[in-house]
Amino acid sequence: MKVGIPKEIYSGECRVAATPDTAKRLTNLGFDVLIESGAGESASFANDAYLQTGCKIVPDAPTLWAEANIVLKVRPPQMHPDLGKHETELLPEGGTLISFIWPAQHPDLLEKMAARNATALAMDAVPRITRAQKMDALSSMANLAGYRAVIEAANHFGRFFNGQITAAGKVPPAKVLVIGAGVAGLAAIATAKNLGAIVRAFDTRIEVKEQIQSLGAEFLELDFAEDGTGAGGYAKVMSDEFIKAEMELFATQAKEVDIIITTALIPGKKAPVLVTQEMVESMKDGSVIVDLAAEQGGNCACTHPNDIYRYNGVTIIGLTDFPSRMAQQASQLYGTNLCHLLEEMGGANNYKVDLEDEVIRGALVVHAGKVTWPPPKPEKKVVREEDKQTRGQKDTETRRHGDTETRRQGDKEKEPALVSPSSTPPLLFSSTLSSLKDRRDLLWLLLAGLALFGIGISAPPEFLSHFIVFVLACFVGWQVIWNVKPALHTPLMSVTNAISGIIILGGMLQLAGASNSLTSILGAIAILIGTINISGGFLVTQRMLKMFQK
Ligand code: NAI
Repeated sequence: MKVGIPKEIYSGECRVAATPDTAKRLTNLGFDVLIESGAGESASFANDAYLQTGCKIVPDAPTLWAEANIVLKVRPPQMHPDLGKHETELLPEGGTLISFIWPAQHPDLLEKMAARNATALAMDAVPRITRAQKMDALSSMANLAGYRAVIEAANHFGRFFNGQITAAGKVPPAKVLVIGAGVAGLAAIATAKNLGAIVRAFDTRIEVKEQIQSLGAEFLELDFAEDGTGAGGYAKVMSDEFIKAEMELFATQAKEVDIIITTALIPGKKAPVLVTQEMVESMKDGSVIVDLAAEQGGNCACTHPNDIYRYNGVTIIGLTDFPSRMAQQASQLYGTNLCHLLEEMGGANNYKVDLEDEVIRGALVVHAGKVTWPPPKPEKKVVREEDKQTRGQKDTETRRHGDTETRRQGDKEKEPALVSPSSTPPLLFSSTLSSLKDRRDLLWLLLAGLALFGIGISAPPEFLSHFIVFVLACFVGWQVIWNVKPALHTPLMSVTNAISGIIILGGMLQLAGASNSLTSILGAIAILIGTINISGGFLVTQRMLKMFQK
């Protein structure tokens, strides 16, 4: 199966859908990778680098599109400036395209691809559920944008970010205000903090307070009893009173800070204007504003989208192509997101567009000539008593569903899908299911009882006492491990390591005094399993620790 990577034709776009590294990963998934000659040049990947990883270089776009079964792109298909043809016309009948598509804004594009009997998956429509994080290209790009926003600000700011005491005098640290602490905002906070600035941040969702503080920034709070966390933890539109109070806070901050980075947005809506012209006028000369929401109208009243503009001594950056300005890194992250998606689809050997897979179904916008966008709403889940423990996790999932849902609606106002605690038919269905499950459990219990009874009347008494201890140990161990919360897995691992240590000692004692080969074999197996558990535990701990190391 052939995967093709054409050169991006959108003016100024430097990213490419596969780097030599991700192309190799595609090859490992069983795909033959075709690269249009020069496709990676703007991202600093030469043809040679692709050749070395086993890719085939194809001379031009028509040949590449014609040969590939699946085309991977960054930007949505558009009119090819050199060929005078739309890229959808290059897509072979029944071919597949995976790229950013923004289906809400491009219904005509979906129709064009459907007319080619094609299949298309939109990377911007991958649902933001926990399982799909590795395929979430929007988050990958927002993370880059947050980082780059700080770098661009530093480029236009005439001072150090960190405070210094030098022989030539004392330099105060720069003060940075980040408005909106989503993916991009948190990346901006971390970057500005790492450069040594004093960072303050504000978000309507109180739940991000701890995340902001854990990055070393100050969370600005309003004396106003309204949380921006909407249903399922999703950001909601705030009351006019709240926005007014928030803007009063920004007005005070604008006079104090040197740099403002704004990322405030509720997906599917126009960006709220939070920094007014008067606020910009009140800022110190040489200050910088980076408006990441420029493409959605901007959070600053003075933003000129796609432009760097100077107003009253303040530089206002309204660029909308931050990921492309870090093309090498952006291509690597985006290419990895694509590899994960293709892996999810079974790789080359088991490739399948699985409509039952909520990630694939969410991203699928055209399937075999039919427009399949928007996808059906995520199923409403019923909250059962036993689910309450994991409710926190589910809330996160619901927020992520909400993101997708709202993205799907384009400009239309839409509340995110909710967990429904009280819909009658699902409850009835659920209780039937749970009674079925209860019956099955009862049957298993009965069978186990019968088996125990059988062993009890036929086995020798000393075997029976050992056997009862063994069964009880299994039962208690299973119950203990199964009910432990993920947060307690590390201490649990220590306990299981201690138990494994006892097992190894027991195994060694059995081996030492073994009178027959069965005892020796069982002793050896006990030592082997105990050792695997201990070394595995250490390996996992090591990997977890590495995740927290810089
Ligand atoms: P996100 O949805 O994760 O974060 C947005 C945050 O804004 C949320 O935490 C939300 O609670 C907060 N917010 C909403 N209304 C607010 C208000 N009135 N006051 C304060 N906070 C408010 O979005 P993400 O992924 O972080 O993206 C942020 C922005 O960056 C978006 O506008 C996105 O389009 C843009 N972006 C820009 C790029 C560029 O090159 N310029 C590239 C990638 C993303």
